[in-house]
Amino acid sequence: MIPSIPLQKARNYEREWAARAVPDTRPLFHLTPQVGWMNDPNGFCFYQGQFHLFYQYHPYSTQWGPMHWGHAVSDDLLRWQPRPCALAPDTPADKDGCFSGSAIPLPDGRLLLAYTGVTGAGSPDSLRQNQCIAIGDGTDFEKSPMNPVLPADLLPEAFSRQDFRDPKIWQEADGTYRMVTGNRHRTQCGTILLFRSLDALHWQLAGEIDSSRNEYGQMWECPDLFLLNGTTVLLVSPQEMRATGEFHPGYGTVVLTGTFDESACRFTRKNVHPIDCGFSFYAPQTTLAPDGRRIMIGWMENWETCAGSARPHPWFSQMSLPRELSIQNGRLLQRPVREIETFWQDTKHLQTRIQGEMALPGIHGRLTDLTVSVGISPECRLFSMDVAKDASHYVRISYESDRGELVFDRSHCGTTRDIVHIRRIPVDLQEGRLTLRLVMDRESIELFIGDGEKVITSVIPPSPEADGISFFADEPTDLTAELHHLV
Ligand code: FRU
Repeated sequence: MIPSIPLQKARNYEREWAARAVPDTRPLFHLTPQVGWMNDPNGFCFYQGQFHLFYQYHPYSTQWGPMHWGHAVSDDLLRWQPRPCALAPDTPADKDGCFSGSAIPLPDGRLLLAYTGVTGAGSPDSLRQNQCIAIGDGTDFEKSPMNPVLPADLLPEAFSRQDFRDPKIWQEADGTYRMVTGNRHRTQCGTILLFRSLDALHWQLAGEIDSSRNEYGQMWECPDLFLLNGTTVLLVSPQEMRATGEFHPGYGTVVLTGTFDESACRFTRKNVHPIDCGFSFYAPQTTLAPDGRRIMIGWMENWETCAGSARPHPWFSQMSLPRELSIQNGRLLQRPVREIETFWQDTKHLQTRIQGEMALPGIHGRLTDLTVSVGISPECRLFSMDVAKDASHYVRISYESDRGELVFDRSHCGTTRDIVHIRRIPVDLQEGRLTLRLVMDRESIELFIGDGEKVITSVIPPSPEADGISFFADEPTDLTAELHHLV
């Protein structure tokens, strides 16, 4: 297969960058684009013995632009190797962008990519988002001559032709295919459509799985639908959310758990909650690992706040840690993939009692996996820890026991932008204890609370010297800490 001129141009550009060998302090185990801009994870799958992760990509600048698909592979979900750019907007069906989508290995050994081809972007009347297919060997992909295989103009009137995107495809045990896509209903509700196909090329609308019902945003992007321990899980990334309950306004991430009757295309909700309560998590996608784990990875940014994120490198943005998913009482639990343990070194265990502000021996670092468990006594009103700290920086994580709330405050992380820096969420103690696991990888903090029932993800600007960690409790408080440096 001979790459098109736009694809060859992107691949040459990547090669020139790699050859320049610019000194670079990338995160250790969070995927970054080879060069330029990255957003959503795409085509996350296990194929021919490796994990493949594609991503929304504009190699030529650190700003969003005509969308390509970047590509990387990994044996362990954490050590990523770049692969040549996989898709460029180079056909009549996708000339204004290859938007987000997914991948599945085909029974004949090839890899199929399903993505959104954008055309007519010059005006709202001509804009179309249609679903397209490309098939290849894991490096080079041939776009189907039948593209777009699922044109927006086939949708019933009530569904948007301009906001119809992000196909997530899978194959059923009987060999037939399914696809869910995001859409905006004319009532300004985000909605998820299900399609069926016998050959992944001819698609029929099965129905609407669920919609925001005027509650969770007006457009639903990047859906994923899967079964986890007998529960059906629907992930969506809504735009234009209003603040309600646990949700903050703007771009959010929502998990809906329940049951799904495919023949009637009816999803019955049991529980609706945020996937990640932080500032920097959007458009997550999952895949099934060969050992049966359901792994989720998200874009470690958010459209609203990314304009205020530091851009000190020739690349912009990172993927989140891959997270193992499970279900407990209808809620999604997330844990860092266990492969992170292969980075552990210099482990410190500490059991102590703190009062006032204290640093603890051996507890510091900016490339760390730290678990802290604190016995919050009835007298203790305030417990907090500062991380990524030096004389002029810190990120503060506090538990205010009167309100039963955890506050994540990155106002002093070195940011110079007036974007959201504080999140406040209700947290239930487990038998009087607060357990926090923080994974820090140079420019990010992922905080897993309790068993991972709540997560706060935040990017922070690079300030490698700010590697201090300290603790505060207003009353004598028992604390255990387990710290692993990540190397
Ligand atoms: C989500 C998203 C997708 C779209 C892509 C474009 O972040 O808006 O809906 O396919 O980004 O880059």
